[in-house]
Amino acid sequence: MEKRLVVALDIKDGEKAIRMARDLSPEVFAMKINWPLVLYSKPEIISEIASFSRVICDFKVADIPNTNRLIVERVRDLGAYAVIVHSVFGHDSLSAAVEAAGDTRVIAVVSMSHPGAREFIGPLGDRLLDLALSSGTYGIIAPGNDPETLSALKSRSGSLKIFTPGIGAQGGDPAEAVRAGSDYLIVGRAIYDSPDPLGEARRINDRISKATLPQ
Ligand code: XMP
Repeated sequence: MEKRLVVALDIKDGEKAIRMARDLSPEVFAMKINWPLVLYSKPEIISEIASFSRVICDFKVADIPNTNRLIVERVRDLGAYAVIVHSVFGHDSLSAAVEAAGDTRVIAVVSMSHPGAREFIGPLGDRLLDLALSSGTYGIIAPGNDPETLSALKSRSGSLKIFTPGIGAQGGDPAEAVRAGSDYLIVGRAIYDSPDPLGEARRINDRISKATLPQ
C-alpha cells in the first residue's frame, strides 16, 4: 500500500535532515521542507533530499504573479515534487504558480491548523477551495486537527489531494484525520523530536493503515 505519511523536516541541520530523509524514506510518501532548513543550509538541499524521496517545498508562496513565478520556477528546477502556495492572494497569483510549476505540483493553502487561523483565513475556506479547484492545483492543505472543517472541505474538493498538517504536536489524531478525508498526513515534531523517529513513523503508519481498512 502506498504510504500516506509526509514528514515535515523543520530542523536547521542540513546533514541531519539528509540522514533523516534517507532513513525515513521507506516509511513516507514525501518529505516536506520549510524555510528553516533551506535558510540554515542551502537551496540545493531540495535536490539532495529528492534523491531519497519526493520533496514538498512548504514555502507558502504568497506574492504577486511575477514573484510567485520566479520562486516556483526555481523550486521546480531543483526537483521538488510539489510546492505549497497561498491561495488567498487571488486567482492571478495562484495561476501564475501553477503555470510556472510544470510537472511540479501546486498544493494550495485553503485553511490552516493553528489557533490564529480562526481570525482571518478560516472563514474563507470555501471560497479559497473554489479558487484552488478553478486554478489547476493538485491538492490543498486542510487542518488535520479539525475533523469538522476537514470533512467539509473534503466533501467539495473533487479530485484534489488533501494534505493535513496539525497531527501530533498540534493535537490531531492520524486515524481521525484519515476518517475525515485526509489523503496525506503531515507530521513534524512528533517524528523528528522523537528518540526513535523511524519507530514513530512506523507507529503512525500503522494507525493510518488500520483507519483505512473497512470497519
Ligand atoms: P508539526 O511539528 O506541527 O509540523 O507536526 C507541521 C508542519 O506543517 C506546517 N503547517 C502547516 N502548513 N498549513 C500549512 O500550509 C497549515 O495549516 C499548517 N500547519 C502546520 C508547519 O509549518 C510544519 O512544517
